[in-house]
Amino acid sequence: MESVQAKVSRIRDLTHNVRELELILCEPAAISFKAGQFISFDIPKEGYPYPVTRPYSIASPSSTSDRVLLLFNLVPGGPGSTYLFSLREGDPVRFKGPAGSFTLREDPTKQMLFVATGTGIAPFRSMILSYLERDGTRPLMLFWGVRSERDLYYQDEFKDLADRYPHFSFVMTLSQPGSEWTGGRGRVSSLVQERVTSVRDLAVYLCGNGNMIKDVTSYIQAKGLCPIYREKYY
Ligand SMILES: Cc1cc2nc3c(=O)[nH]c(=O)nc-3n(C[C@H](O)[C@H](O)[C@H](O)COP(=O)(O)OP(=O)(O)OC[C@H]3O[C@@H](n4cnc5c(N)ncnc54)[C@H](O)[C@@H]3O)c2cc1C
Ligand SMILES: NC(=O)c1ccc[n+]([C@@H]2O[C@H](COP(=O)([O-])OP(=O)(O)OC[C@H]3O[C@@H](n4cnc5c(N)ncnc54)[C@H](OP(=O)(O)O)[C@@H]3O)[C@@H](O)[C@H]2O)c1
Repeated sequence: MESVQAKVSRIRDLTHNVRELELILCEPAAISFKAGQFISFDIPKEGYPYPVTRPYSIASPSSTSDRVLLLFNLVPGGPGSTYLFSLREGDPVRFKGPAGSFTLREDPTKQMLFVATGTGIAPFRSMILSYLERDGTRPLMLFWGVRSERDLYYQDEFKDLADRYPHFSFVMTLSQPGSEWTGGRGRVSSLVQERVTSVRDLAVYLCGNGNMIKDVTSYIQAKGLCPIYREKYY
């Protein structure tokens, strides 16, 4: 894996505990990656003789090679997310990568269903933007679940993409919404159970919470055989 020197170029707080970080590459000045791949940071951990390694998916499209966008949530006391939250604009960073095989498969006969919880949306943002940018025509469906209204972000971006590209659709669901919420309710796994009637022409991509991945995998498998690609965050 390549070792890359970069600099924090932009920080954006998206919710109470989700942050977006743009890293501009210094040495090398550009990298080539596939949408869905990740980069890794080696982070010193108190009391440990060796650094711990934490991977983060690239959330930006593969057409942009001189910078990468990361998206992460704060895990209190966690060395990886605490390190990323400590960074300020202009700070130098070093990472390794890109790496990983959670990437779009080129199968012209399959519609793609992306199912994410929380920051598991990161690789899907990269895949969806990359695919639409290069004029891909297969239908893409995104089902995304978070807990409540305060956990929402990227809503306008995905709604705008769905308006511009008729073959892209986006459904958001909140597992613990307030009483005023008029959008989708329930876990994203229930959405899969309700909306996916046939898996015959489907390729399913799952990312985020490990229990969601386990549940959705068994719901999909109960409906029939189709490819399922998975990236478990925790
Ligand atoms: C291939 C890959 C790509 C990843 N990409 C991303 C990404 O793009 N964005 C991102 O936020 N995370 C991502 N993760 C998770 C990330 O690598 C770290 O595990 C996470 O940031 C927590 O690390 P930590 O050192 O802060 O906490 P740790 O001390 O490692 O975690 C403590 C506990 O927090 C829980 N936890 C771990 N990750 C999360 C999380 N994301 N949200 C809520 N609880 C969690 C788990 O129960 C874990 O045992 C990815 C993981 C993998 C394997
Ligand atoms: N963010 C909070 O307010 C909060 C509060 C208490 C504890 N925590 C803990 O903090 C950690 C991170 O929380 P997070 O909100 O970032 O991520 P998370 O716990 O992974 O939740 C994100 C979304 O995934 C859903 N989910 C969980 N298990 C699922 C399954 N088996 N199938 C389908 N969907 C599933 C959650 O629904 P549900 O809401 O139904 O779980 C929620 O909508 C977790 O360990 C969590 O237990 C967070």
